[in-house]
Amino acid sequence: MRPSISHAVQALAAGAFIAPALMVLLLAAAPRAQAHESATGVVKERMEAMKDLGRAMKEMGAMVKGQAPLAADRIQANGRMIAEHAARIPALFPAGSGHAPSEALPAVWTDRARFEGLAADLGTAARALEAAAATGQKGPVAKAFRGTGQVCGACHDGFRQKK
Ligand code: HEC
Repeated sequence: MRPSISHAVQALAAGAFIAPALMVLLLAAAPRAQAHESATGVVKERMEAMKDLGRAMKEMGAMVKGQAPLAADRIQANGRMIAEHAARIPALFPAGSGHAPSEALPAVWTDRARFEGLAADLGTAARALEAAAATGQKGPVAKAFRGTGQVCGACHDGFRQKK
């Protein structure tokens, strides 16, 4: 008996009727997941560094939204990690590393001053987050968290392929 396989087949068949939106999502996600598996060297390294940033922002987002208790030590550690990663961003995007499977746009190399400026801004925002955590107050943490998120978004807007 292979219950998991027959369930999967049933779920796929049911999916055709009940979850077309989910199927679309799965199909859209597939090329991106594949891109990550085939990444090597510095491209893989920077994708992993970016994933660390994503995980940290997710953890802190839950705290800011009140879905998890505010843990100042976690916010401080995340702020420090983000600042350290930010300092490595320029080196993680060397010339000639923009080819597939990377999702970096050519602007990373043609608009380098702005790209590195945003990496520096991320360091500043992350240090502010670390300092806000030391207050133990949700207000300053939430403000610094939003400031950090804005820098992520600003850089992705101009330098990363759209999903
Ligand atoms: C200075 C520009 C810049 C900043 C700041 C930045 N990113 Fe990115 N990020 C990129 C680029 C460019 C890519 C695409 C890299 C590639 O595919 O080679 C990327 C990719 C990612 C990815 C996808 C990684 C993968 O597996 O392919 C995640 C997740 C991510 N960033 C999260 C974040 C978060 C969260 C922040 C803020 C805390 C952030 N980034 C800040 C430029 C930036």
